Amino acid sequence: MKFICTEDYYHMSRVAANIISAQVIMKPSCVLGLATGSTPLGIYKQLIRWYEKGDLDFSNVTTVNLDEYKSLSPDNDQSYRFFMNENFFNHINISKNKTYVPNGLELNEKKACSDYNSIIQSVHGIDLQLLGIGHNGHIGFNEPGGAFEKETHCVDLAESTIQANARFFSSFDEVPKQAYTMGIKSIMQAKKILVVVSGENKADIVEEAFFGPVTPKVPASILQLHPDTTVIGDKDAFMKVR
Ligand code: F6R
Repeated sequence: MKFICTEDYYHMSRVAANIISAQVIMKPSCVLGLATGSTPLGIYKQLIRWYEKGDLDFSNVTTVNLDEYKSLSPDNDQSYRFFMNENFFNHINISKNKTYVPNGLELNEKKACSDYNSIIQSVHGIDLQLLGIGHNGHIGFNEPGGAFEKETHCVDLAESTIQANARFFSSFDEVPKQAYTMGIKSIMQAKKILVVVSGENKADIVEEAFFGPVTPKVPASILQLHPDTTVIGDKDAFMKVR
């Protein structure tokens, strides 16, 4: 694993955006695996800026997102599809029909998951997967458990994740309790993985996930086994790294 420590969130976002830009420039028809959450927002802003300057062209790029809440429609402003459109896709020249997010409205779990597995297969693999990491070590919505789940699956979100997400909903009851997520195998098959972490409140999990044992109890720890993972964090997130 490679670690890049930056001064602050702004610089972390710029370094990560530079790596994604390099990917898009080197392979204009690349497949980007994307994440939602607060950490990647600065990256998307930076990429939009470079697109507006004429430095980036997303017209041949395909994207596959990690996850989506089960039962939320794409026009629900809390859905991850809505988030991606609002914060990234609506501002660049990507074809929306080449941007994939699990279908939250498909309530048949088996079908929703096998449909998404087929999509991941049909794009012939992810060139670069962007990841944030949850306080409990989740990646996508692969929550701590007894085993690594391989492919797209429906998860009961951990209590801590529901609590963390509650800030985005007007009442706790509205916070979805289940989600569809890409599995660990699909994530690990990405050619390159970019993990972004920011803030003191990620310091413990950074140390545990990337310097502790590889265990499904800390899903992000599996990334230690990936041949090309780069973790970019600001100095607060890296404060416990020796
Ligand atoms: C979102 C996702 C999650 C987040 C994680 C960190 O698509 O996959 O695993 O990356 O919960 O979220 P933030 O960045 O808000 O700390």
